[in-house]
Amino acid sequence: DHLSGFVIAVDGPSGSGKSSVSKQVARSLGYGFLDTGAMYRALTWWCLEQGVDLTDQDAVITTAERFPLSIGTDPDAPTVTVGGTDVAAAIREPRISTNVSAVAAVLPVREILRVLQRRLISKAGRATGGVVAEGRDITTVVAPDAPVRILLTASQEARLARRSKELHGAADAGAVAATRSQVVDRDRADSAVSEFTVAADGVTTIDTSHLDFQGSVEAVLQVVEAARA
Ligand code: DC
Repeated sequence: DHLSGFVIAVDGPSGSGKSSVSKQVARSLGYGFLDTGAMYRALTWWCLEQGVDLTDQDAVITTAERFPLSIGTDPDAPTVTVGGTDVAAAIREPRISTNVSAVAAVLPVREILRVLQRRLISKAGRATGGVVAEGRDITTVVAPDAPVRILLTASQEARLARRSKELHGAADAGAVAATRSQVVDRDRADSAVSEFTVAADGVTTIDTSHLDFQGSVEAVLQVVEAARA
């Protein structure tokens, strides 16, 4: 069960810039792009849609086993549909962000999504020669054999400022304070799944605290070039 294509695995916490950076890296290489966080978010949306009690792990697992997800891997058209419904916007809503950690913490759910993720990575890899896959456990669990594995980090300060801009369009003191509990709470909930502060063996850490978007993209591309040389 070897993955097809040149796989670039990117992990990192929310606010590290991993989604937008990974998408741009995929674009510039002509590769596919897989946002695995979107898959956990889409499953959370589906559970809520189905009225599943998220504290009932068996119910969440059963729902994951019959999850009618369709997710695109074109970085220019990252579509996400569940049972034919376009959920690309809905999965970014706060009600999903606050509930997704509960779904992602269920191990059998992770196994189910991992099988899907590996299939999607191979399919995209065959189609375009390579794929950038991003999430929380890509470098360690989903694609531990990937030729390029990167942990994108950023200081809590930098991540707060970015999230605040995304959510409130500003990064002044008031907006950052409003974002703080959200970011800190989700870091804590997500830490049940993975530790982001330490990179696994063979994983290259890129600290983006003092890099802008373009600088972060270039830093990733440099690691890719070095791996190819
Ligand atoms: O990156 P994001 O904020 O869209 O991720 C949404 C949630 O999914 C986040 O709470 C952590 C979880 N996640 C995960 O457990 N494993 C992944 N590979 C990707 C995301």
